[in-house]
Amino acid sequence: MNIKNVTIIGAGTMGNGIAHTFAQSGFSVNLVDTSADALERAITTITKNLDRMVSKDKIVEEEKNATLDNITTNTDLTSAVKGVDLVIEAATENVDIKLKIFKQLDKICNENTILGTNTSSISITQIASVTNRKDKVIGMHFMNPVPIMKLVEVIRGKETSDSVTSIIMQLSKNLGKSPVEVNDAPGFVANRILMPMINEAILTLEENVSGVEEIDTVMILGMSHPMGPLHLADFIGLDVCLSILEVMYKGFDNPKYAPSKTLINMVSEGKLGIKSGEGFYDYSEGARNKKVSSRFRR
Ligand SMILES: NC(=O)c1ccc[n+]([C@@H]2O[C@H](COP(=O)([O-])OP(=O)(O)OC[C@H]3O[C@@H](n4cnc5c(N)ncnc54)[C@H](O)[C@@H]3O)[C@@H](O)[C@H]2O)c1
Repeated sequence: MNIKNVTIIGAGTMGNGIAHTFAQSGFSVNLVDTSADALERAITTITKNLDRMVSKDKIVEEEKNATLDNITTNTDLTSAVKGVDLVIEAATENVDIKLKIFKQLDKICNENTILGTNTSSISITQIASVTNRKDKVIGMHFMNPVPIMKLVEVIRGKETSDSVTSIIMQLSKNLGKSPVEVNDAPGFVANRILMPMINEAILTLEENVSGVEEIDTVMILGMSHPMGPLHLADFIGLDVCLSILEVMYKGFDNPKYAPSKTLINMVSEGKLGIKSGEGFYDYSEGARNKKVSSRFRR
């Protein structure tokens, strides 16, 4: 199967990056969101990111324009999936939202269309179970920021076929990425390891063992992490971190994955990290000029 056109569902942090990456590799991309504002913000972000690449001489102006020309936006899912080879769902990390989308996709897509999901933690087998094409449902877990990060975790559900897996592995390579095949389990590999670390960093802060910058500095200078865990949590989105931990807590039925109170409280207060302007850090002067949020200043 030669995939030429792709529909991406969800135009948030990940959807815009996935659309950018496919469009820059010459695919025709339809980006869908229920929110017209989210679509507008996504195109603004993609344009800004492409401008930065032009200013750093990574691409030329023509490539930027060709990339933008490859993207169309849509709020209507049915027309957006007409004749597409592949759909990648990157909507909010919520199982009910995803099951509803896949049920609908199964009805409105061609029978050969592959249905991928960028979920960070939700079972691919469960998502596939609401379709009549369980062999064609697969996890394609990109990392944030998508145009830069090399990894794609390719997750096989119980019934995902060998041929669909090899199409998605090859496609990831064609996008310039390095795919790794993994089996279906809550959090897969990436978040199974990352999220307990982020949660532990928040507990360390909660128990006043140290401050926000100090905890991040320990992990940057001590473990050679490029970014501290609290800054990374802000970057991922605290709501996304909470949802992933809840899926793992429930999926493994193990208290070691219980999300910290601070994380739960921050999400309920709308402090979601960079996307809301505040998380562990305050981004009111721009994402590059972060300072520790007043709530955690020592
Ligand atoms: N943020 C990260 O670092 C990261 C990394 C890897 C994977 N993921 C996963 O990617 C997915 C998206 O995460 P995000 O961080 O981009 O979320 P986000 O909150 O930034 O964006 C989600 C978007 O989905 C849209 N949406 C919700 N319901 C929809 C529907 N029914 N149809 C179409 N659009 C709908 C929302 O309007 C919003 O624009 C999640 O499954 C998440 O777990 C996130």
